[in-house]
Amino acid sequence: MIELVFATNNKNKLDEVRAIVDGRFFIKSLEDIGCYDDIPETGDTFEENAKQKSDYLFRHFQLDSFADDSGLEVESLKNEPGVYSARYSGTRNMEDNIDLLLEKLGDNANRKACFRTVISLYLNKEQHFFEGVIYGEITHERKGAEGFGYDPVFVPNGYDKTFAEMSATEKNDISHRAIATRKLGKYLLSL
Ligand code: IMP
Repeated sequence: MIELVFATNNKNKLDEVRAIVDGRFFIKSLEDIGCYDDIPETGDTFEENAKQKSDYLFRHFQLDSFADDSGLEVESLKNEPGVYSARYSGTRNMEDNIDLLLEKLGDNANRKACFRTVISLYLNKEQHFFEGVIYGEITHERKGAEGFGYDPVFVPNGYDKTFAEMSATEKNDISHRAIATRKLGKYLLSL
C-alpha cells in the first residue's frame, strides 16, 4: 500500500480522507511520523499555505504528503477574513472573530460569502492542487450549536439554515472541505 502523510492531527479530517482512499493509500498523520513542529503558514493565499505545509514535510522528512488550508471569504469585505479566518480578531477566539465579522458587515445588504479549501498534494515529485468552494450568505446573528468556526453565521445557498444548524453528516456532505477531499480522493484512486 502507498503511504502518504496528511499534514494534520485533526481526527475528523483524517477519517474523512481515509474513508475515501481506504485500501489503496495508508494515510499517516503528523503524529504518526513523529512531526511535532509548528509548520509555518505565512502565505497570502490558501494555495501558498497548503503548499508550505506539504513542502515542509518533503524538505524535513523526505515524505510525500498533502495538506489543506481553508477559510471564509466575504465579498463585501474584499474577501476577508480569508487566510486570517482562524485569527481574524487578533485572537483564536471564535466568538471574537464572529463578533468582528458581524460588526464589519453591519447592515450591509450584500452578505455573499464562501468557504474555500485548497489541498496541496506533493506526490512522486509532482505538485497538485484540489479546491472546494461552497457559496452562501452571512446571517445577521448566530444560529445553531453544531460545527465550529463561522458555522453559526453561514447559510449555504439553497438552504434556510446555517451550517451550525445542520448535522455533521449533512454539512460534511456539501462542505468546501468535502468537495476538495473528494477531488483528491478521485485523483489518488485514478493512479
Ligand atoms: P483550517 O485551515 O481548516 O484550519 O481552517 C482555518 C479557519 O477557517 C478555521 O479556524 C475556521 O475559523 C475557518 N473555517 C474553515 N472551515 C470552516 C468550516 O467548515 N466552518 C466554519 N469555519 C471554518
